[in-house]
Amino acid sequence: MAENKEKARERVREIASEHYRRGDVTGWFEALYAEADGDNSIIPWADLEPNRFFKSWAESTGLKGEGRTALVVGCGLGDDAKYLHDLGFKVTAFDISPTAIEWAKRLYGEDDIRFEARDLFHPPQSWNFTQTGEAKTGGFDFVLEIYTIQPLPIDMREQVVDAIGDFVAEGGTLVVVTRGRGDDEEPDELPWPMSRRDLSRFESCGLSQTHFVVMPADEEGEPPRFVVEYTRR
Ligand SMILES: C[S@@+](CC[C@H](N)C(=O)[O-])C[C@H]1O[C@@H](n2cnc3c(N)ncnc32)[C@H](O)[C@@H]1O
Repeated sequence: MAENKEKARERVREIASEHYRRGDVTGWFEALYAEADGDNSIIPWADLEPNRFFKSWAESTGLKGEGRTALVVGCGLGDDAKYLHDLGFKVTAFDISPTAIEWAKRLYGEDDIRFEARDLFHPPQSWNFTQTGEAKTGGFDFVLEIYTIQPLPIDMREQVVDAIGDFVAEGGTLVVVTRGRGDDEEPDELPWPMSRRDLSRFESCGLSQTHFVVMPADEEGEPPRFVVEYTRR
């Protein structure tokens, strides 16, 4: 099992570096989903179940949707979107890979979840941050980001964080789940874990950190996970 996962991660690094060499930093996601051709074991993060670190956080905080809107960033096959839907959120979920979105629709298309093939950097206007006088407002009450920041190049990190922060409505919440590293640790290979310093960029987007939980990894050799909650007041 662990051996298969390591093989899948090796293939991810191969496809990603082929694309990176051509200056294409996001095209490898679609290439990987297309190569998997419906076999989720080829995709290291696609477990067909909600992220266990997020689920544990949601259970411990008693998270409930109560009809609020939620946006799932880089939703992959849609398992976390489905989880939020079942908690009572009105969910929109997007991914840059059209193949992932078609796959998510096959898995969860029966549920009332809006799946869209979109690039984080080119969202529809209604999702986005607008500035009304002093008020800064994104389009969603709850935004969930799991593992999308860490595989994107580190020199894009601030840009990625800003784009995600902009989706959060006034009074809304953002939850980020990421591999974590110390501020002084150099990340070596993809996916590049986030440090507290990297995460502090969310606070420059007008968000306040309200929870920071460090969870031990459940696989040998894997870094801990940070589950971080922000709100826009
Ligand atoms: C490591 S995967 C994590 C997927 C999912 N969040 C999960 O935890 O199972 C990162 C996801 O982000 C998507 N992604 C990467 N860059 C993106 C972008 N610019 N806009 C939207 N999605 C993006 C990828 O296609 C991929 O599905």
